[in-house]
Amino acid sequence: MKISVIGCGYLGAVHAAAMAELGHDVVGVDVDESKVEMLNSGRAPFFEPDLNDLVASGIASGRLRFTTEMADVEGARLHFITVGTPQREGSDSADMRFVDASIEALVPWLHPGDLVVGKSTVPVGTAARLAALVAKSAPGTNVAWNPEFLREGFAVKDTLAPDRLVYGIASGDETATTLLDEVYASILAAGTPRIVTDFATAELVKVSANAFLATKISFINAMAEIAEATGADVTQLADAIGHDVRIGRRFLNAGVGFGGGCLPKDIRAFRARAEELGIGESLAFLREVDSINLRRRERVVELAAQVLGGSVAGKRIAVLGLAFKPDSDDIRDSPALDIANRLAALHAVVVSTDPEAIENATRNYPDLSYARSAEEAAKGSELVILLTEWKDYRELDPVAFGSIVADRAIIDGRNCLDSVRWREAGWEYRSLGRP
Ligand code: UDX
Repeated sequence: MKISVIGCGYLGAVHAAAMAELGHDVVGVDVDESKVEMLNSGRAPFFEPDLNDLVASGIASGRLRFTTEMADVEGARLHFITVGTPQREGSDSADMRFVDASIEALVPWLHPGDLVVGKSTVPVGTAARLAALVAKSAPGTNVAWNPEFLREGFAVKDTLAPDRLVYGIASGDETATTLLDEVYASILAAGTPRIVTDFATAELVKVSANAFLATKISFINAMAEIAEATGADVTQLADAIGHDVRIGRRFLNAGVGFGGGCLPKDIRAFRARAEELGIGESLAFLREVDSINLRRRERVVELAAQVLGGSVAGKRIAVLGLAFKPDSDDIRDSPALDIANRLAALHAVVVSTDPEAIENATRNYPDLSYARSAEEAAKGSELVILLTEWKDYRELDPVAFGSIVADRAIIDGRNCLDSVRWREAGWEYRSLGRP
């Protein structure tokens, strides 16, 4: 099928390449010329495992191309909207500017029988609003909402082999379901569950899934606070409650909490939308979820001061990790980068490193100091703080690493190191929610 993908950021670039991989003829549209150029040369504009290969093979096959011209969507029947919905400046709600602009730019190129498929994460009510707009300006064109659940670091896998497909369609719109089934035929043939529902439910599936995941993480981080006050061990607690299949062990890793381009802004926008709808109380708990999450960052700063004898000022601190999670170069709302900045603001001499995110971090925070490796960052440090659990850091040898630093002191902000091994190697080992 010939399809267009409007917006080639994280979601769109992966979606376009994945759709070409499924055999479709795909044109990706983005306003950013340099991004389009890079994608057309067969390279991903950000770090994501397997994406380079997928883009390169799509371009080589002739089934994938990128453009800045909306006119190039001509001939496509199905148009995916994959632009970003960031947090609006000075507010918790979602900034819908890019969604609205992409629809406006797309409308003149739509033909009767086309289907516009929203994938962006949007406030509930958006699909109905856009459907009314499209029905008026491009009669005969329909809208569907098909949220995306991809995780960074697993984006290619999550797009080609998703847990589930959700179609939000207007009542009685059988053709939308037929078209989407055709696009996802091979995914459906693999037995992937498919839920066909109304617009509002489809929109809510996405935000409620993210709200649930954020709540799960903040729940265990609240338990970490309790554990810190009582001498309990939050990791053992998570293991024990996680054995209950109703609870499950995943997303119960206590540490510096969630960041990234989705969970933080999505829980804020969801709560803001509930307030607009006059039902703010229903999601008031999400404010607490957000607060618990942010408190963990402050806790690391406090712990650092404690380890360093009362103040971090003038102390040399190595920060391992800048990305919001491993296998990503994404620093949006990254707890690691936030903590590095907080320490620097308190006049610590912070040297940060990350296997992939240094470039992004340097561009946004040129005043921080960066090192190319964990060893370089830790040279002469009085404290090491691990904030993103990259495999390289999880596998550090505490004995060899101990010979580089000035003082063997480490804060494991992700509870991902073997405390016994580190202590045996002479380290003062501190973590979050564990004695
Ligand atoms: C998330 C959702 O998982 C995905 O379904 C949605 O489409 C987009 O948002 P992503 O932002 O890529 O995906 O990251 P995710 O793997 O969910 O992790 C989010 C944050 O939570 C990271 O900062 C991670 O370090 C943190 N986290 C995760 C924890 O602190 N503890 C955990 O147990 C799990």
